[in-house]
Parts: sequence; C-alpha cells; structure tokens
Amino acid sequence: MNPIFESAENLLNEVNSFAVDSAETLEQFRVKYIGSKGAIKGLFGKMKEVPNEQKKEFGLLVNKVKQSAEAKFEQLKSEFGKSNKSKVEKPDLSLEADINPIGSRHPISIVRNQIVEIFSRLGFVVSEGPEIEDDWHNFTALNTPEDHPARDMQDTFYIQQDPIQLLRTHTSSAQVRTMETQKPPIRIINPGRVYRNETISARAHCQFHQVEGLYIDKGVSFADLKQTLLYFAQSFFGQGTKIRLRPSYFPFTEPSAEMDISCFICNQKGCSVCKKTGWVEILGCGMVEPAVLENCGIDPNIYNGYAWGMGIDRSAMLKYGIDDIRLLFENDVRFLKQFTAA
Ligand code: DAH
Repeated sequence: MNPIFESAENLLNEVNSFAVDSAETLEQFRVKYIGSKGAIKGLFGKMKEVPNEQKKEFGLLVNKVKQSAEAKFEQLKSEFGKSNKSKVEKPDLSLEADINPIGSRHPISIVRNQIVEIFSRLGFVVSEGPEIEDDWHNFTALNTPEDHPARDMQDTFYIQQDPIQLLRTHTSSAQVRTMETQKPPIRIINPGRVYRNETISARAHCQFHQVEGLYIDKGVSFADLKQTLLYFAQSFFGQGTKIRLRPSYFPFTEPSAEMDISCFICNQKGCSVCKKTGWVEILGCGMVEPAVLENCGIDPNIYNGYAWGMGIDRSAMLKYGIDDIRLLFENDVRFLKQFTAA
C-alpha cells in the first residue's frame, strides 16, 4: 500500500480511538487533528505527492478522516460543553412562571367602545376631530353668538387669542368639520375628549369625554332622532329603559331637547342618582339649525338632520355606579382593574 494511504488509514484509526474524557482532552483532540495546524490539514498537503490516478481515492479517504474527526468533536463538545456549564446553576423547570400582570381597559374606553358599537349597528361611522380648535369650528359655525357665555374665559380654555385657538368645549366642533368636507347623506359619531374651565369636584372636571352624533339627509324627522336615541338607551342601559325628551335650547339645534332615561338604579322609585325624580339626564339633542348647515356649505332647502351630544364619563358613572368623576382621571390601578369589558 502506498505509505501515504497508510498514514491516512492510521490517522483515521487514531481519531476513532482517541480517548476524550474532559474538556481539556477534547481541546487536545481539536488541536491535534482538526485545528489549522492539525494532522488532517497535513494530510491534505500530501495530495500533491499522490499519483494522479489515485488522487480521487485519496481525496475520499482524507475527507472521511476529516468528517469522522469533526463529527466526534461535535458530539463530545455537547457532552463536555454541558459538563462545563453544569457549574452554572441549572434552571428549575418545574417552578411556576412569572405571569406578567395583564392590564384592564379604562372604564371610559369600555363605555366609548360600547356606544360606538351600538350606533355602528345603525350605520353611524366614527369620525374624529382635533382637540385644539379654532373659534369657527367650536363656536361661530355652530351659530353661537359673540356674547354667548360659553365663549367666556371662565368657561373656555383659550390657548391663543389672535387667531383664536382653544381647547374644544364640546365634540360638536367635529360635526362642523365633517359637514364641511363630506356630502350628505352623513351619518357620523365623534367620540373624544373635551375641556371646560370648571372647578374640579366629584361631579365636574376640567376634562371629560363626549360622543357627538350627526345625521344629515333629505327629509329627516324628529321621530327618527327619537327612535335612534331610544334604541341606544335600551341597548346601553337595558331593554326596559324609557326615555323622556324635555324642550331645551342649544344655538346649533332647533328645536332642541335634553333626554332623560328612566332611572335604572331605583327603577324610578327615587334614589340619590336620580335625585328622587325617577329620571336621569344623559344627553342634549335636536334638529340641526339651518344656519349651521348653511355655514358648512350644505343647502338647508334640500337637506336637514339631527344631532346629539352625550357625556361618556357620565354614562360610565351611571353604568358602573361611580360616584366621583375624579376617579376616572387619577388612574389608580386599584380602581381601574375592577372594570372588564362586557
Ligand atoms: N354640545 C352640547 C354640549 O356640550 C351637547 C349637544 C347638544 C350636542 C345638542 C349636539 C346637540 O349635537 O344637537 O352640551
């Protein structure tokens, strides 16, 4: 046998019988056979001494030695690698996992989503408007006269005087934006945050949430408005809920009304929530004032519509029996985690 072939065979035997019993002997094995100055490398170098017709056979043999050495090394590495690591503490897989506490939705978000869901069944789509508004969208376009008390600094947070920038006092500003940019029929709801310069107490806050609703089409009637609101009240507060509309005044609607629902807490027997009247006020509404349509570029001789605005905070407080609005803004997790979406 060609002595070069013989040395390759010997090397294969050596590799197979080399005893590895520790990380150190494994490293010796690696250096001796696989390393860049190892015996296998040397064997490849012998290729040039092999006659051409035997080169192929020799190549196969050398590759076999190389693969055996590498496979042995890989296998032993996992074994002795582990024993190395065993000095590090092993994790106890039977231990209970740390559970990341799961948050809960804020009651305002829960109630807002419920309101949106109910009106979306009737075809209303959500449209949003900015919280920082100008005078036109918050007041002027909504037919609110210059001397209206809502324009007073006492009631409105002004950010800038010229041109006026303010924090919107109601979501009604969003109906103006929608009417200016969309053509009837329009059927939108606008949930959002509003601001008023109020003294903070259990019943009032300087920030709160409203949902504005608007429907503009041909031949819309007050009966349509009433039925929509009845559907909402019964879906949200319970099927047995009754509604009552009381005449009221808003510059942007004519006629205007405030809507009460029958007190579902005492079943109209009289309690502190309904102040012993059996009724609880939840929203303002009315038929959109023709001047408002005109201001927004909609011809009031062709189109009319209704609108309403309701407080989300108030609805949430009623629904969950929360007696202090400040709790909704303090974000105490002990309070917040009591609420789960139905
Ligand atoms: N913007 C009124 C408020 O904040 C609520 C309101 C009343 C909105 C009547 C309306 C409406 O769209 O038609 O008190």
